[in-house]
Amino acid sequence: MLFIGIDLGTSAVKLLLTDETGRILNIVDREYPLSFPEPGWSEQEPEDWWNAVKDGIPALLQDADPSQVAGIGTAGQMHGLVVLDDDDQVIRPAILWNDGRTQKQTEMLNTEIGKDVLSERTGNIAFAGFTAPKLLWMKENEPENFAKIRRIMLPKDYVNHKLTGACATDYSDASGMLLLDVKNRRWSTEMLEICSVTEEQLPELHESSDPIGRLTPEAAEALGLSEDVVVCAGAGDNAAAAVGCGAVGDGRCNISLGTSGTVFITSDEFKVDAKNALHAFDHADGGYHLMGCILSAASCNKWWMDEILKTGDYAGEQTGIGPEDLGKNDVYFLPYLMGERSPHNDPAARGAFIGLRMDTKREEMTQAVLEGVAFAIRDCLEIAKEQGIEVTESTLCGGGAKSPLWRQILADVLDIDLLIPRTEQGPGYGGAMLAAVACGVYPDVSSCAKAFVSTKETVTPDSETARLYDERYRQWHALYPALRAAREQTEE
Ligand code: XUL
Repeated sequence: MLFIGIDLGTSAVKLLLTDETGRILNIVDREYPLSFPEPGWSEQEPEDWWNAVKDGIPALLQDADPSQVAGIGTAGQMHGLVVLDDDDQVIRPAILWNDGRTQKQTEMLNTEIGKDVLSERTGNIAFAGFTAPKLLWMKENEPENFAKIRRIMLPKDYVNHKLTGACATDYSDASGMLLLDVKNRRWSTEMLEICSVTEEQLPELHESSDPIGRLTPEAAEALGLSEDVVVCAGAGDNAAAAVGCGAVGDGRCNISLGTSGTVFITSDEFKVDAKNALHAFDHADGGYHLMGCILSAASCNKWWMDEILKTGDYAGEQTGIGPEDLGKNDVYFLPYLMGERSPHNDPAARGAFIGLRMDTKREEMTQAVLEGVAFAIRDCLEIAKEQGIEVTESTLCGGGAKSPLWRQILADVLDIDLLIPRTEQGPGYGGAMLAAVACGVYPDVSSCAKAFVSTKETVTPDSETARLYDERYRQWHALYPALRAAREQTEE
């Protein structure tokens, strides 16, 4: 039997084919555009996602027997608002997870409804990228579009809708809407009321490995697959990545260095951090997790390489940075290129290089970018620590995890062991695993993880470099409040 994992990312869809033992047979990427129509806005066309899937799956199956494909599992960029009308047509481009236009609505939710009430109802406070503030923004700014809404979906649910005709979501992804009572795994009627939406407009709720349907005749024909292929509910990309890295059950941690950077800490019991700085969401294994999300991680390095240095040679730019340079860089970088989610919840935050001198070299700035992202990830781990959660090791996935230098910097800055799984394709691999469970090959997500996931390499921190980075982190950590104060002064 074969399984397809779909990782519906922000820059591309990554498709992956495995057999029932977890052996990866093929991987195919298809890129699509991302648009920033106004500063801080971020949108994509849902049809582009579906076209990329339709184009990519036949290529994925080029050397395989399509009749062997039994299941598909989709992992999707979270929080995005996809709205369909009565004719099942997309009403407007999807508003994505890293879109910061909802500052006003987010503030209204956190102050007028109140953080305590939101936390009581959903387990979370409002962050600009969450789906509920986007609905409020649409109601206020595009009332004609808002009135047309028949269905509200998350990005991966749109792809699953195209595959099966079903209108379904899973608990991990639904958690990021601020419409779900996360602890009790049901929609919050109060939150639906606040956002002027009804349960009929929302997708049906499922566990991630639940089958939600089979391929429609049109989808089967377009993809070259049988109508018997089972599609499972899938998961938000971070929950799927955790599954794909084996971070299931209680007390595990997975860090992702993708377009965003996330720290994902699993638990059997529902937990909320006292300041709500971490998200309290459902996990794809039936449990829960706490998550910190920085909006720009590998995307900072991509911006620095593509837009500023104008080079495609990412590895080459890192060759001049050796172990002797780590922990000693005087240049600091704040990675807030799209504002910041965790822990600042500040869509107006901006990136910065600090500490430049006349003799600052290109390598020091490249190193500062990698370090700035690692420091921001540490900000999230520090909050977990304040809650008494001690993380001593974590799995690592995402495109950034391919860089040995970045992996070492991260291990040293966090002062923890980083376990590198055999594949860094976290979300897609997790998607395929959920499909294998949906097809009954494994009884549950954790037994599938035991069969599929193994560690390729462990990156251990160097104790002296970790000590140096601890001092650097404290200096770096003081920069954001100072810059925010300066910004607020000029805003007055
Ligand atoms: C998580 C988040 C991002 C996206 C990226 O809360 O917003 O990690 O899921 O695809």
